[in-house]
Amino acid sequence: MRNKKTIIISNRLPVRVERRDGDLHFIPSEGGLATGLGSIYQQEGNIWVGWPGFVPESEQEERLTREKLAELNLVPVFLTEEELQGYYEGFSNEVLWPIFHYRLSYAVYNTENWHVYQQVNKKFAEVINRQDPDEKDEVWIHDYQLMLLPQLVREDHPTIAIGYFQHIPFPPDEVFRCIPWRDELIKGLLGADLIAFHTYNDTQHFLNACTHLLGLPIQNNCLLVDGRSVYAEVYPMGIDFDKFSDLAKSTSIQQRAQEIKQYYRNRKFILCIDRLDYSKGIIERLQAYESLLQEHPELREQVVLYQLVVPSRDTVPQYRLLRDEIDRAVGHINSVYGVNEWQPIAYYYNSYPLEELSALYVAADICLVTSIRDGMNLVCKEYVASKVESNGVLVLSELAGASKELLEAIQVNPNSIDQIRQALKQAIEMPEHEQQRRMQDSIEIVRKFNVRHWVKIFFNRLHEIKTLQKQEM
Ligand code: UDP
Ligand code: G6P
Repeated sequence: MRNKKTIIISNRLPVRVERRDGDLHFIPSEGGLATGLGSIYQQEGNIWVGWPGFVPESEQEERLTREKLAELNLVPVFLTEEELQGYYEGFSNEVLWPIFHYRLSYAVYNTENWHVYQQVNKKFAEVINRQDPDEKDEVWIHDYQLMLLPQLVREDHPTIAIGYFQHIPFPPDEVFRCIPWRDELIKGLLGADLIAFHTYNDTQHFLNACTHLLGLPIQNNCLLVDGRSVYAEVYPMGIDFDKFSDLAKSTSIQQRAQEIKQYYRNRKFILCIDRLDYSKGIIERLQAYESLLQEHPELREQVVLYQLVVPSRDTVPQYRLLRDEIDRAVGHINSVYGVNEWQPIAYYYNSYPLEELSALYVAADICLVTSIRDGMNLVCKEYVASKVESNGVLVLSELAGASKELLEAIQVNPNSIDQIRQALKQAIEMPEHEQQRRMQDSIEIVRKFNVRHWVKIFFNRLHEIKTLQKQEM
């Protein structure tokens, strides 16, 4: 008898393939889902199914990718350009992403894209079936690109344990209602036994959508779906604390952090790391920084804002526009306030290896996160885990999921330029002992509720739910 296995499924695999000079390169994916789960899935016989981030141009490329990924327990789902356009860019990132991040005016409803989304979810279900899942196995589906998948898997495997985790917010039901295919999306999720979110509010919004839109019977957080109990619960995701903390302690990273600090002449170093995304509040933050330089000229040349933007979804029009807007905003601030010896903003549009990120976290006096909406935001937790000397200040948007846990951060409303400016001023002037007190509290939370803990409590609960369901039969 073979051991039970866990099949993880997400749109993006934790490794992406890039074709450079005719060769295939396998590199770690960016984004909270891939980085967060990436370090824990490789255990006894588990597999991760997902898109490898490129379209093979030949059967040989496809075979090579399959073989290489198999060594890492990864199973690729290859998607065509048309599928990517309809399912990923069109439906996932031009309907679900904007609506779930409360940007109603950015949504582009297109029936053809909805059909492609349905087809691609079925394609994922077929790939799962090819893994020959047993009713003993567990299936863990991640994120909004695959909302129909829980029900598709359920149809083929009536009793298998299915968990779903949504890494982005779930909006209030009146916002969710805007999507013409909302009922099908919720029914898709309800194929799972446990549906989980980062925050209490997201969970309540989802439960409201189930009762208001579908009229499902509910008791507390348990919905009755065709005689099966389905639970919606809160599991805030953690990070691999030890990985970030150990790296930050290493001599090479400490040295690199010193080099970075010296390069910027030991000025107050404000760090911002975001994927290119309008949900991150990058423009608002740049405006707040400009207002800081305007209102406090004495701080000019004393600070530097280091902005790393990781390229993301640049085939989607709103993302291209945002990139141009950031270019203009950075150019404006640097040209108006900069002098020969000082540029107020160091801006990079790039993706960095983990070691360089770690050195930046160690070097930073302040980490500034101003998401207008964010499911969790792992960057701020990685910063906290890297502050091995308990110094540094986190300025955190109250609209990021992490704000519900990191209560000792300076919290700001990201729509208020004044609040961000004042928070930056407070952070720049914060005495060492206050930094230590606040940071120690945050470190304790990030250390304790780490990604292993998150996986453990999620699966314990999924098993418990399967036992309850059996008793109800
Ligand atoms: N990240 C990365 N390479 C970079 C910059 C960032 O892999 O050059 C990672 C970062 O370490 C973090 C993730 O991207 O783990 C971003 O996750 P977050 O939850 O903050 O935002 P998301 O991108 O998921 O919206
Ligand atoms: C967020 C989403 C993930 C997604 C990631 C990167 O973290 O929750 O599902 O993978 O962003 O975005 P991308 O579109 O490049 O996969």
